[in-house]
Amino acid sequence: MTMPASKITGVGMYVPDNVVTNEDLTKIMDTTNEWIVERTGIKERRFFEEGKDTVSSMAVAATEMALERAGKKPEDIDFIVFATLSSDYNFPGSGVLLQRKLPFRNIGAIDIRTQCSGFIYALSVADQFIKSGMYKTILVVGSEVQSNVFELTDRGRNLSVIFGDGAGAVVLEATNETNKGILTTKLHSDGKFAEELYLEHPGSRRKVRFSPDMMEKGELLPYMNGKLVFMNALKYFPEVVREALAEVNLKESDIDLFIPHQANARITQAVQKELNFPDEKVVSNIDRYGNTTAASIPIALCEAWQDGRIKEGDLIALAAFGSGFLWASALIRW
Ligand code: ACO
Repeated sequence: MTMPASKITGVGMYVPDNVVTNEDLTKIMDTTNEWIVERTGIKERRFFEEGKDTVSSMAVAATEMALERAGKKPEDIDFIVFATLSSDYNFPGSGVLLQRKLPFRNIGAIDIRTQCSGFIYALSVADQFIKSGMYKTILVVGSEVQSNVFELTDRGRNLSVIFGDGAGAVVLEATNETNKGILTTKLHSDGKFAEELYLEHPGSRRKVRFSPDMMEKGELLPYMNGKLVFMNALKYFPEVVREALAEVNLKESDIDLFIPHQANARITQAVQKELNFPDEKVVSNIDRYGNTTAASIPIALCEAWQDGRIKEGDLIALAAFGSGFLWASALIRW
C-alpha cells in the first residue's frame, strides 16, 4: 500500500485593520522612517485592536477563508495544529480556543511554539499525521499578536519597529496523487543560541514569576542579538533549502517560488542572492506587515496564491529561521 501524501487545498489570511506606518512610530519613540526602511525594509505593519482581535479570533478569520477555498466545513477537519508564540492565554494554548469558535467536532488541537519557524514545524507535524494515515484533513494555522510584546518606547525601539500582528491558515488534505503536495520538510535546532533571541519572563525558573519592579527594569522585554541572528540566518536559510532539494534530487533552479519567513528584507535579499533567485521567484511582503513570526509564511503564501503567482505543478520552497535558534524548510509541488 502506498503512503498518502498531503497537499494544501485552501489558503487564508487575516490582518487587523489598524495600519501603523513608520511615520506613526516616530510620534511615540525616537526613530525615523529612514532607519527602519534601510535596516528592515518595513514601511508599515498592522496592530491588533484590543476587544476586537486576538490570536485565536484572527485565526478564525484566516481559517474561514482557507476552509471556503478548500470547499470544506469545520466538521470536515480532523485535527488542528496551531503555531504561535503569543497565545491568548499562558495556558491553555490557542488551538482549543480556535476549536471552540467554529463548529469543529471534538478533534485534537495542539499548539506549536517554535517561534519564527512555527508554521513550517506545524506543517511538518500535520504532514506526518496524514502520511501515517491517522488523519485525512488537517487545519494548520500561524497567528500572532506581537505589538504588545515589544514596548513602543525609546528603550523598546530596537525590536518594536520590526514586528506586526496577523494570521494565516491552510487546509492540508491527504492525496494519492504521485509527486504532489509536500515533498519533504526539514527541521533543525541549536539550543545553545536559546538566549540570543528570547523573552525570559514570566518563565518558570524563578520561585516568583513576576515582581513589581520587572516592568520598570525592562525585564519583561524580549532580547535579540541582532547581528548574531543576521549571521546565522544567512547561513541556515540557504543550507536548509539545499538540504531539502538534495533529498528529492532537485536543484535551486527548479524552484518556481521561494516564500521565506519574513524576518527582515535585508535577510531575504541576502538569502535570495546566495540561492540565485531572480526577484520574481521571491515573495516579500514585509514592507506592508512587518515580521509576523509564525504567521508570516502562511500570509505570504496566501497573498502569492491570490496574486496568481502559484500555478498547478509549481515547486514552492518555504524556509524559516528564528528564535531557538530553530530553522526549517518545506518543498511543495502545488
Ligand atoms: N530607530 C532609530 N535608531 C535605532 C532604532 C530605531 N528603531 N533601534 C536601534 N537604534 C539605534 C541603536 O540605539 C544604535 O545607536 P548607537 O549606535 O547610538 O548605539 C544604532 O541604532 C544601531 O543599533 P544596532 O542594534 O547596532 O542596529 P543594527 O544596525 O545592528 O540593526 C537590526 C539592527 C536591524 C535588528 C539588525 O541587527 C538586523 O538586521 N538583525 C537581523 C535580525 C532581524 O532582523 N531579526 C528580525 C526578527 S528575528 C527573526 O525573525 C529571525
